[in-house]
Amino acid sequence: MKLSSLVTLALALARGVEAVVPATTPGTFTIDSFTFDTGETLANLTIHYQTIGQLRVANGRSNAVLVLHSTTGLADALLVEDFAGQLFNPGQVLDTTKYFIILPDAIGHGNTSKPSSTGLRARFPGYQYSDMVRANYRLVTEHLGIPRLRLVMGVSMGGMHTWLFGTRYPTLADALMPIACLPAAIAGQNREWRKFAIELIRHDPAWQGGDYTSQPVGGLGGAVILLQLMGNAPLALQHKYPNRTAVDAFVDGLMPRVNLSDANDVMYAWNSSATYNPEPDLGQISVPLTAVNTADDMINPPALGIFEHIAEKIKPGLAKTVLLPLSNDTVGHGSYLLAKLWKDELADLLTRSECQEECLVSP
Ligand SMILES: *[C@@H]1O[C@H](CO)[C@@H](O)[C@H](O)[C@H]1NC(C)=O
Ligand SMILES: *[C@@H]1O[C@H](CO)[C@@H](O)[C@H](O)[C@H]1NC(C)=O
Ligand SMILES: *[C@@H]1O[C@H](CO)[C@@H](O)[C@H](O)[C@H]1NC(C)=O
Ligand SMILES: *[C@@H]1O[C@H](CO)[C@@H](O)[C@H](O)[C@H]1NC(C)=O
Ligand SMILES: *[C@@H]1O[C@H](CO)[C@@H](O)[C@H](O)[C@H]1NC(C)=O
Ligand SMILES: *[C@@H]1O[C@H](CO)[C@@H](O)[C@H](O)[C@H]1NC(C)=O
Repeated sequence: MKLSSLVTLALALARGVEAVVPATTPGTFTIDSFTFDTGETLANLTIHYQTIGQLRVANGRSNAVLVLHSTTGLADALLVEDFAGQLFNPGQVLDTTKYFIILPDAIGHGNTSKPSSTGLRARFPGYQYSDMVRANYRLVTEHLGIPRLRLVMGVSMGGMHTWLFGTRYPTLADALMPIACLPAAIAGQNREWRKFAIELIRHDPAWQGGDYTSQPVGGLGGAVILLQLMGNAPLALQHKYPNRTAVDAFVDGLMPRVNLSDANDVMYAWNSSATYNPEPDLGQISVPLTAVNTADDMINPPALGIFEHIAEKIKPGLAKTVLLPLSNDTVGHGSYLLAKLWKDELADLLTRSECQEECLVSP
């Protein structure tokens, strides 16, 4: 490499713009006879996950970080330059020469068991967030043998799962970072659009009770487009598609890709938040936590008046809530993927939650 390119690389690294996505190692954990909160049972629940780095466990602690994805997403969606490329490289906040990153696909998502992959279709158990969190708890403790995580963090649904981890398993992690979500039951507009997505699929005659031969694209399209609208923000879209030609080209490009999703998978995913409500249990949280939302998040808008009161419901001194203002850099709910917006808060949380003597991560 020429000296000039080495200098360029060094400068890029110094500015933190190195966006290489590190390679992952895949793994699977099969749970025999997993019973869901509904009472339904799946003979074999196969959880697919990916890891980066080397696990180190000592004195009941570890260097492991659980990173949780969004609804209808999967771990792969986080393995992009804006997220993994800003967090997991040497010198970055979750440097994988020091930390062990675990990226599971949640129940019903990615390569973990789901309606479409099991052949059960609309007979798949009606899984809820509580089931998804319990399965990942078993992945961490039983399968990976980790006594205590360094951090649980997640985005959108993964953030809501982080709230559940903090309230249900208060000693499982040293720190918690929920991003782009609220620790409250899904009601109002947030439940409304999810329910519309579900019902659009169920009311499409092509859905056939879940036993379709080709995707019910009317209902499925409605569901996909509701997320497209709720998950973005007017200012960001105004810049990205500044004229009719640009917007129409985007929509025309999206339409034929609607059927790449599976209608049953999508329907189950949007209903899995139905019974989510960590609010009454927030007093259980026992470790430092930083919650980050953006002001232009239309799924979790600050106007609800929920975000600003979170810290009052948590033991004093533990919680920090950060509402990032609307800017030309934020993109609404989807800002969760832009780690540059919140990685300094993550660094601050890791410092606030640093273990004293037996810390494995800091030399
Ligand atoms: C569950 O997995 C076991 C072995 O992993 C296999 O023998 C069994 O057939 C599976 N059961 C079902 C219902 O797929
Ligand atoms: C998920 O499964 C698909 C299809 O079996 C496969 O092509 C893909 O590589 C898997 N992803 C990972 C991360 O293993
Ligand atoms: C519309 O916006 C796109 C994207 O910015 C730009 O490339 C294109 O030139 C614009 N077209 C017109 C007709 O203004
Ligand atoms: C999706 O629809 C397009 C046409 O709109 C078709 O060419 C393609 O094969 C379909 N893909 C799937 C997975 O059904
Ligand atoms: C959504 O989940 C709730 C709670 O488990 C359940 O009562 C309801 O039947 C589910 N709705 C659909 C459409 O699956
Ligand atoms: C976005 O950028 C434009 C042009 O630089 C500027 O006029 C505008 O004030 C910015 N908006 C926000 C919300 O920062």
